[in-house]
Order: sequence, then C-alpha cells, then structure tokens
Amino acid sequence: MRLQNKVAIITGAASGFGEGVAKRFAEEGARVVVADLNAKGAARVAKEIGDNAIWTQTDVSQRSEFDEMVYAAKSAFGRVDIMVNNAGYTHRNGDMLGVDEQTFDLITAVNM
Ligand SMILES: NC(=O)c1ccc[n+]([C@@H]2O[C@H](COP(=O)([O-])OP(=O)(O)OC[C@H]3O[C@@H](n4cnc5c(N)ncnc54)[C@H](O)[C@@H]3O)[C@@H](O)[C@H]2O)c1
Repeated sequence: MRLQNKVAIITGAASGFGEGVAKRFAEEGARVVVADLNAKGAARVAKEIGDNAIWTQTDVSQRSEFDEMVYAAKSAFGRVDIMVNNAGYTHRNGDMLGVDEQTFDLITAVNM
C-alpha cells in the first residue's frame, strides 16, 4: 500500500485516465477526491471506490470552484498530499489556424 494515509485530489476523474488514477490510488491506500465537471460520473466513481472517496462537481477553469474542491478535501480528510491535474480539454484534430479564440481560451483555462 504505497499511498497509505495520503490524501489525493484527482481532477477529471469521472472517466478515462482520471477514473483509473483515482481507483488505483484508492487501491494503494489513499483517500481520494474525485473531482469533475461531470457530477454524475464523479458520483459513480466515488461510489465504486467506497468510503475512502468523496466527489465534487468542479470546473477547474473557475478559481472559486477549484478553491471549493480543496476546501471539500480538507473538510473530509484533513489535508491534501497529492494533486493530480488530469482534467484536460482540446480542440478537435484539424488545422491549428481553424481554432477560434474562444476555443483557444477554453483550452488554456482548463489545461493550465
Ligand atoms: N487519451 C489520450 O490519448 C491522451 C493523450 C495525452 C494526454 N491526454 C490527457 O490526459 C487527460 C485525460 O484524458 P482522457 O483521455 O482520460 O480524457 P477523458 O475525456 O476521458 O476525461 C477527461 C475528464 O476531464 C473532465 N473535464 C473536462 N473539462 C473539465 C473541467 N473544466 N473541469 C473539470 N473536469 C473537466 C471531463 O468531464 C472528463 O471526465 C487530459 O488532460 C488529456 O488531455 C490524453
């Protein structure tokens, strides 16, 4: 159990890599915060993990929601040891010059 007593936040954890990381961390003894825009998916993943998980509906591009996520982690588990900034967004494959400014700004806000 390499992560015994560690507390981890995983963003974008309602599916894909993030879901896998959250479940694996829990198997290794961590208590995890399953954070995602997708509340239904985050709730499902946290339920599947069990007592060592909570979930939050969080848009990581919004500072206030990010702060609420950290607050929820500290309230439930006392501290944060590990932050996995997995949530990501990108444009569809295609010509870079075809990416409009709104899409570019969204990519930057979510990924950074
Ligand atoms: N799949 C790949 O081949 C690949 C390759 C390189 C990098 N990545 C990166 O790995 C990460 C996960 O990829 P994946 O394939 O598991 O993707 P995915 O689409 O399965 O999962 C991404 C998750 O992030 C969530 N999300 C999106 N925007 C969010 C936001 N603003 N706030 C909170 N959550 C948000 C989505 O709801 C989703 O649950 C991403 O950052 C992606 O860019 C993926």
